[in-house]
Amino acid sequence: MASLRLNGKTVQVEAAPDTPLLWVLRDHLALTGTKFGCGAGLCGACTVWVDGKPVRSCQLPLSRAEGKSITSIEGLEGPAAQAVQRAWDELDVVQCGYCQSGQVMSATALLASNASPSDAEIDAALQGNLCRCGTYLRIRAAIHQAARSLREKA
Ligand code: FES
Ligand code: FES
Repeated sequence: MASLRLNGKTVQVEAAPDTPLLWVLRDHLALTGTKFGCGAGLCGACTVWVDGKPVRSCQLPLSRAEGKSITSIEGLEGPAAQAVQRAWDELDVVQCGYCQSGQVMSATALLASNASPSDAEIDAALQGNLCRCGTYLRIRAAIHQAARSLREKA
């Protein structure tokens, strides 16, 4: 039995220590907002936060997630998360949607540490999040819009 700090709560999970966190979230805890894309650390669809940093949950065994603070898309909250989600809606970023929870996790982490990211900083922060629908330009625009709205409220 493993104990996880997930989305602000402590949860118990019955799974082998080498089970990837992605499987724990989706199959054991029914948190299906985090997506399985490649399963090999290459696409970013499975991005969650570990201690506030974006991490590929398909590559993180349960044993190494224990004791850390995990945030999945279901637990994302706060001003940066709200600004990102509003900008995503206003600019109609989403196409098929499959990559988008990973994109939102990476975008929100970027804005939490950088109030005014440049195009190059956005591209660098999200380079591991692939989108087969090619929504990259709308993602970039939405991050700029979210950053602007956060600065106006600061
Ligand atoms: S599913 Fe984890 S990086 Fe693709
Ligand atoms: S919106 Fe379809 S994969 Fe990104």
